[in-house]
Amino acid sequence: MTREILVNAQLATLDGPGYGLVEAGAVAIEGGRIAWTGAEATLPERFSGWPRTDLGARLVTPAFIDCHTHAVFAGDRAREFELRLQGASYEEIARAGGGILSTVTATREASEDALVEAALPRIDALIAEGATTIEVKSGYALDREGELKMLRAARRIADERPVRIRTTYLGAHAVPPEYSGRADDYLTETCIPALRAADAEGLVDAVDGFCEGIAFSPEQIARVFDAARELGLPVKLHAEQLSHQGGTALAARYDALSADHVEYATAGDAALMAASGTVAVLLPGAFYTLHETQMPPVEAFREAGVAMALATDCNPGTSPMTSLLLTMNMGCTLFRLTPEEALRGVTVNAARALGLDDCGRIAPGLRADLAVWDVASPAELSWRIGFNPLHRRIFGGSE
Ligand code: NIG
Ligand code: FE
Repeated sequence: MTREILVNAQLATLDGPGYGLVEAGAVAIEGGRIAWTGAEATLPERFSGWPRTDLGARLVTPAFIDCHTHAVFAGDRAREFELRLQGASYEEIARAGGGILSTVTATREASEDALVEAALPRIDALIAEGATTIEVKSGYALDREGELKMLRAARRIADERPVRIRTTYLGAHAVPPEYSGRADDYLTETCIPALRAADAEGLVDAVDGFCEGIAFSPEQIARVFDAARELGLPVKLHAEQLSHQGGTALAARYDALSADHVEYATAGDAALMAASGTVAVLLPGAFYTLHETQMPPVEAFREAGVAMALATDCNPGTSPMTSLLLTMNMGCTLFRLTPEEALRGVTVNAARALGLDDCGRIAPGLRADLAVWDVASPAELSWRIGFNPLHRRIFGGSE
């Protein structure tokens, strides 16, 4: 079994309140798991013969987790970017058949191999900044075979790269053109049966939807959530991104892992989320790209005790972003998170948003998924813009 002890490290364990800082710390790794962690001076005798790596006082954090991406898709949306800068809104473009539906056309035409190939550079960019766990959603095919193809492509990323992939079924992302004006028929005939087929193939870790005026109503999302519940799958929801529709309250009612975007959520929604343990996943990349001005109710989340995560929302339309470091910076500058909240957002709270309890912190028994940084303090990770200080990434105890 591979053994290694990291010594002379500044640890931000994120285990407990605050950063969980340990100066002159050590982490013992055995068989891909953290065997021990604490101050180097208190390292137990039994580790004395183990190989040691001196980290030169560098910072060690849990490896990053991107808990909300649409990293599998075909085509690009650069033209839509131009249109928006000429004055068209995201909703206008969507209603005119562009937006998500233009990616649907390209993704339906792409082979599974082509989807994997297109996704890998995005995944590589996330890995290069210390990510070891990445969630990937379907939702750009919106037909049975295409949704399965997307989920298979997402799963295959983990064969191609040293990374853990969590897949989320997002059949209720948009109403496809062949069902225009018949959202309920789409759910009955395609979306829900495709979910069952994907689950039967073992392709689904969680179920998501887009609750919005341009997508699905809370009542329609409830039908998808009922199907998820029957299958024993956890749910999450794109909620209150562009308007207040009641998606967050619905998500809380179904004990959702997370409600994502949530710019238009209220203090009342925050209380419901706190009661159900639903994480607020903040997506500053989409807020930035769409020139949004409605801020998520961060202070209400703090007061209610709602855990906040941060994610790239990597997608071709609203957040063509593949950097969690930039996401942290945007979380601080645009949403006024503290650097500590930003770091919690891409580690411990991101793990919660995925329903994972074996990563996101530095603690004995957890996976040895770690990031070693050339920085003097954890706040530096959020402070810099467009600079990557990653020194080493450790995935399950290996490089
Ligand atoms: O998370 N909000 C809906 N879904 C994506 C956008 C998808 C797209 O525009 O292609 C999001 O922002
Ligand atoms: Fe999204």
